[in-house]
Amino acid sequence: MQIPANLKHQGVIQWVQDMIALTKPKAVHWVDGSQEEYDKLCDLLVESGTFIRLNPEKRPNSFLARSDPSDVARVEERTFICSVNKNDAGPTNNWVNPKEMHETLNRLFDGCMAGRTMYIIPFSMGPIGSPIAQIGVQITDSAYVVTNMRIMARVSTQVWDVLGEDGTFVPCMHSVGAPLAEGQQDVPWPCQPDIKNKYIVHFPEERSIWSYGSGYGGNALLGKKCLALRIASVMAHDEGWLAEHMLILGVEDPNGEKTYVAAAFPSACGKTNFAMLVPPKEMEGWKVTTVGDDIAWIKPGPDGRLYAINPEAGFFGVAPGTNYKTNPNAMKSLEANTIFTNVALTDDGDVWWEGMDGPPPAHAIDWQGNDWTPDCGRKAAHPNSRFTAPASQCPSIDPEWENPNGVLIQAFIFGGRRATTIPLVYQSFNWNYGVYVGATLGSEQTAAAIGSNVGVVRRDPFAMLPFVGYHVASYFNHWLRIGRIISDPPRIFSVNWFRKDSEGNYLWPGFGDNMRVLKWIVERVHGRAVSVESAIGWMPRYEDIDWRGSDFTLEQFTELMSIEADEWKQELASQEEFFIKIYDRLPKELMAVRELLLSSLWRSPAHWEVFHSTETPHNNS
Ligand code: OXD
Ligand code: MN
Repeated sequence: MQIPANLKHQGVIQWVQDMIALTKPKAVHWVDGSQEEYDKLCDLLVESGTFIRLNPEKRPNSFLARSDPSDVARVEERTFICSVNKNDAGPTNNWVNPKEMHETLNRLFDGCMAGRTMYIIPFSMGPIGSPIAQIGVQITDSAYVVTNMRIMARVSTQVWDVLGEDGTFVPCMHSVGAPLAEGQQDVPWPCQPDIKNKYIVHFPEERSIWSYGSGYGGNALLGKKCLALRIASVMAHDEGWLAEHMLILGVEDPNGEKTYVAAAFPSACGKTNFAMLVPPKEMEGWKVTTVGDDIAWIKPGPDGRLYAINPEAGFFGVAPGTNYKTNPNAMKSLEANTIFTNVALTDDGDVWWEGMDGPPPAHAIDWQGNDWTPDCGRKAAHPNSRFTAPASQCPSIDPEWENPNGVLIQAFIFGGRRATTIPLVYQSFNWNYGVYVGATLGSEQTAAAIGSNVGVVRRDPFAMLPFVGYHVASYFNHWLRIGRIISDPPRIFSVNWFRKDSEGNYLWPGFGDNMRVLKWIVERVHGRAVSVESAIGWMPRYEDIDWRGSDFTLEQFTELMSIEADEWKQELASQEEFFIKIYDRLPKELMAVRELLLSSLWRSPAHWEVFHSTETPHNNS
């Protein structure tokens, strides 16, 4: 075996040797992360039928992959946190005794790479060498995974230098679970089609990851959800920092003052759109820049304040609904050098998905490789189809996005997809209350995870329900503790872009108009914006929002911001239901906040409106 010249870490070498002995691959390839290697792998994937090269005039150096129809999303029911003690995983995670799970995995991985090439990928989550970054090494038998990892993480032989002889790394073991017998013909998307044969496993104490049977997204690109969230959340808990399912964006005001905010939204709630927001042109001088669209690692800096990096290097975004109107920056990010998975192929060799600009094509090939016409009654692209694109191609990318020391975070935003109850925006009264807002975040489910009940509200605390690598109540306690050790804690806000009227129409236009809310948030952070006190937090009045270029009326705003006491009492009951499940470790502070909230709602009228300054605040006392 030809070991890279600058790899001096016996731990890595030994682990790779052990994994070769276990999985018995046909060949071994140490990935160097070069363009030349990437191009060769893409050619190989074209030859094997996994990739279709797109028309180079329309989409240079870009490819389309179609997954097996059974392998289209993260598999939460097959995701395990195998801590030594069951209760350390908590009631929101699947748990199996680590000894037993190791036995299962050893059995599954035995010979699983037969007939395939094993790739060894050195990668850094975060700029290579950053004090906030972490190193991982992924072993995989999927060239598709190698090409995607090269976009999503920093894949380079430099990682071996940073690791040195005794650096720490997270071993990430991955196989599609489809060994090839002598002479057996491969398929374009090898995997274990039966969901029961897929395993996404984390050993938090060992800090290792084993993934078997899936080649899709978060199941297979192990730097993302597995390392940067589940394992990193455990590291962060032990070391006093935060690993969060948050986008990071910068807001520049007309005077050039920059404020960075981090925002948590459950999967497929438009995080990428918010991270790349283009303000309405009438809000002259306001600008949004993008640091990251999915994950934030946040550490107290030397001044005691919180600094964040985006550990990723690319976007793995949901394609449907993305267009030049909703998200021009995303569309420009994927004009070249992009891998598309499960979108439709047009007759001129380009890609298409539902919600793209212009009329649908008269004919296309759908995500499953079948002929498609607009009237055929099927979707052309899978609802969870994705693009994998380099972040450096994003026109709104922030100049500081690769600053190894991170950017100063001054506000946290929590948002779910809620048709009722939750107003457009409010600010929490203080840090502990803000932690409560994060802890009780709820969202109507989407197609980002298999087995989801689309439309039903589920509690998704901090948008981290599928991603906290330990007991979620201990995670809440960790957030409370961070509030005590940092100076000048960021202000915490709740937003809801998805409230509907009684006819089911969205009340808020969203997208670029979200800048109006963001402006109020940023000005609150700097103590410049007015607000009124409601039962649930601080709220802007109509006149506290910048409406330039909008015809949104006072009446619409009033409906969007109203607090219906009955809905809120139901909301608190549903929050309580969730709290009861995790009662053994639930921090007392959160119970106290809940009591306070309940008592203010009891005193509040059945229907509460943010008053207009020209009115008497009759219903506001
Ligand atoms: C994602 C997710 O893919 O949250 O980012 O599911
Ligand atoms: Mn996500």
